[in-house]
Amino acid sequence: MLSYQHHYHAGNHADVLKHWLLLACVRHMQKKDKPFDYIDTHAGAGLYRLDSAKARKTAESDEGVLKLDWKKLDGLKDYRSQVADDIRARCYPGSPLLAKRLLRPGDKAWLFEMHPKTIIELRKHCEKHKVCYVRQEDGFQGLSSLLPTASRRALVLIDPSYEIKSDYQTVVKVMEAAYQKMPQAMLLLWYPVVDVHQIRQMEKAFAKSKMRNVQLFEMGIADNSEPGMSASGMVVVNPPWTLADDFIRTIPAVSAHLAKDHKARWRHQTLLAE
Ligand SMILES: C[S@@+](CC[C@H](N)C(=O)[O-])C[C@H]1O[C@@H](n2cnc3c(N)ncnc32)[C@H](O)[C@@H]1O
Repeated sequence: MLSYQHHYHAGNHADVLKHWLLLACVRHMQKKDKPFDYIDTHAGAGLYRLDSAKARKTAESDEGVLKLDWKKLDGLKDYRSQVADDIRARCYPGSPLLAKRLLRPGDKAWLFEMHPKTIIELRKHCEKHKVCYVRQEDGFQGLSSLLPTASRRALVLIDPSYEIKSDYQTVVKVMEAAYQKMPQAMLLLWYPVVDVHQIRQMEKAFAKSKMRNVQLFEMGIADNSEPGMSASGMVVVNPPWTLADDFIRTIPAVSAHLAKDHKARWRHQTLLAE
């Protein structure tokens, strides 16, 4: 039985990085008029209350999105415009809602979620939209069944809960299988840095894979000897060509802003060249 619920973590520092990057990738896909498919393999609830008992138990958003001084962080302008109304209502939008709001006529969203309660919320927040297809199915299998998409253009977010240690290796295989089916797809994999050793192993697995054009984007808010999630990152296959520059211009200041010791911790790395 799955136990992870994003309600405890919504709006934390990892969501700030993940959703800033996701928005940059959606914007890039929409530079061309041709429709694309957005696939969210682990969608979550779509919208979270920041004042719920679950959110207040951890208060992670206080150290994440609610801590941001927007005036000092110009590079977050687009992200701010997408979350501001929700924050005013003491809520935070998840990846499927952020993507759904930007979809144009012709674009489609495929949202996978397994948790029996979370899927009810996801349906409420996203299914009414006629281009959103919500499925209570395993996201890894769902992804495989959708690729290659008829649109020939796809943006995929893989955002598992890493409840099983082997997930760090499984995700590389899932990315490689997706790449083989649709080499031109933009694939985004989110990962938490709890144990640095696990991340190094994951990077080695990427380096040995047959994929091309793979970059890593990581932001930390504490030294990695600290307990808990000190950093998080995204591995992106076929990233927008401007993403690395935007990341380097924006994220060091966000990291310094969110870190208790005001130290910027970040990493951009090309894992596999074009
Ligand atoms: C990290 S949360 C997703 C957060 C969301 N992507 C966002 O950024 O707002 C992971 C979600 O995956 C769901 N989940 C776990 N295993 C799954 C599976 N095999 N297939 C689809 N969803 C799964 C969990 O119930 C949880 O809601």
